Amino acid sequence: LKILFLATEVEDLAKTGGLADVAKALPQALRRLGHDVRIVCPFYPQVQERLEEKNHLHSELSLQLDSLQYLYNIHLLQLGNVPVYSVDYPPYFSRQGLYDNGYHPYPDNGERFAFFSMAALQIAQSLDFAPDIIHCNDWHTAMTPFFLRTQLSENRFFDSTRTLLTLHNAAYQGVFDLASIPFHRRFENRLSCEQMEDGNRINFLKCGLTSADKINAVSPSYAAELMTPLGSHHMLPLFQQRHSDFSGILNGCNYDDWNPSTDPLLPRTYDQHHLEGKADCKAHLQQYLGLKESPDTPLFGMVSRLTVQKGFELLLPALERFLYNDVQVVIIGSGDPEIAERLKAMEEKYAGRLIFREGYTSKIAHWVQAGADFFLMPSLFEPCGLTQMYSLAYGTPPIVRGVGGLKDTVKPVKDIRDVDRATGFVFSQPEPTALLDVMCNALALYREHSDSYAKLQQNGMATRFCWDDAAVKYEQLYKSALNTEITANQ
Ligand code: ADP
Ligand code: GLC
Repeated sequence: LKILFLATEVEDLAKTGGLADVAKALPQALRRLGHDVRIVCPFYPQVQERLEEKNHLHSELSLQLDSLQYLYNIHLLQLGNVPVYSVDYPPYFSRQGLYDNGYHPYPDNGERFAFFSMAALQIAQSLDFAPDIIHCNDWHTAMTPFFLRTQLSENRFFDSTRTLLTLHNAAYQGVFDLASIPFHRRFENRLSCEQMEDGNRINFLKCGLTSADKINAVSPSYAAELMTPLGSHHMLPLFQQRHSDFSGILNGCNYDDWNPSTDPLLPRTYDQHHLEGKADCKAHLQQYLGLKESPDTPLFGMVSRLTVQKGFELLLPALERFLYNDVQVVIIGSGDPEIAERLKAMEEKYAGRLIFREGYTSKIAHWVQAGADFFLMPSLFEPCGLTQMYSLAYGTPPIVRGVGGLKDTVKPVKDIRDVDRATGFVFSQPEPTALLDVMCNALALYREHSDSYAKLQQNGMATRFCWDDAAVKYEQLYKSALNTEITANQ
């Protein structure tokens, strides 16, 4: 199949979260299945840094949208054996942050990503690459299926193309004043009420949900939650309407990048049968963070975007009580400045026990995954979650809330007899006390039942979430999309 994969972040090029991990690994797995897959992403300064000396300028394009003429360049990069076409339009993408300036979303995000979604179609045409499937990801590229459908009559190039919209996080919907998109006149009369908010704001995700031929979420449990009033991010009628075209496919884990036995970022590698290296990674992490180098003090780690989604409202009160124990906790994160301030204040209060490092570095993320004894992920909701998969691979049992992909990937220890099959600790109620309870259970297991703790580690390290399996499921989904008549939003 010919697959055009649209993503606004791609691991190794530019990244804020798990979407980037997926946008690197899934196309490569599809390529291994023999498909001709090509990625389109924006050309941010971080992508520029990846360009080699030689001239990668692929072509110059000009897109006329109403009275506006966009002149932009396309750079061709190679990610493994997948070509990446990067859209270079400096007024929109030559900024350090991908979506925000560190405090606030960019006010022109609507026009930035509407343009990108339109440009992707032009690029396919300019390459004479008529895709069987355009695979869109989240709100940023959700306008592409809408543009495609509403332009079909004028343009036969995409007549046999079908679209898939993957929901990595449906809480972010891309809602903008229609008038803020300079070329809104081009499509405003094609918008329906269900794609708008309050009559004058456009909801990009809803445009995609009503226009894409197929929709999927990044785990079966998140797909099921989206079909409930509480989990639908206020879009239940839309999801119900598209029920028959909706499914869930669990993300894989990229074990080329996340494997403790080969990880070049670790001070010492280790595997399931030789865990001595993990003890060294712990000592190294403690030293790096300025914590007491104590092999027996349990170390709880977290690597996360700082956002409400990740459960800080549960974690901070739970920590206030948990940190009276002889434990160490390290949190690495970037995002919401208010959460960062609260973490800094707690770090001061619990000096020597809690370390908070604000920032985003891949190396430290790997060090925490390897050096910690437990991994914290008490999310309020979690479409899939990749970091818990990494922690399983690194022998660092995760402590998670049983929602979305966390429920689909972590097998809970409910009591000591479960350890034969279990891989981590799971709580349900979104209450700090529920989290505190499982953290205390984890602590007790670590201190009093070291064999059971080791078994938990082993089980996690033996677990595999393969991208090749997920890619086969996507292939089936693409094929089912190709069998559909175009019905949505016409
Ligand atoms: P989400 O996409 O919701 O942030 P995921 O668990 O799917 O959650 O993916 C997060 C990805 O971003 C992982 O690759 C993780 O290692 C990385 N990551 C998140 N926060 C940081 C950080 N502060 N420093 C380095 N990497 C981070
Ligand atoms: C989103 C979700 C996360 C998921 C990732 C990749 O950022 O928050 O749960 O793992 O996308 O699909």
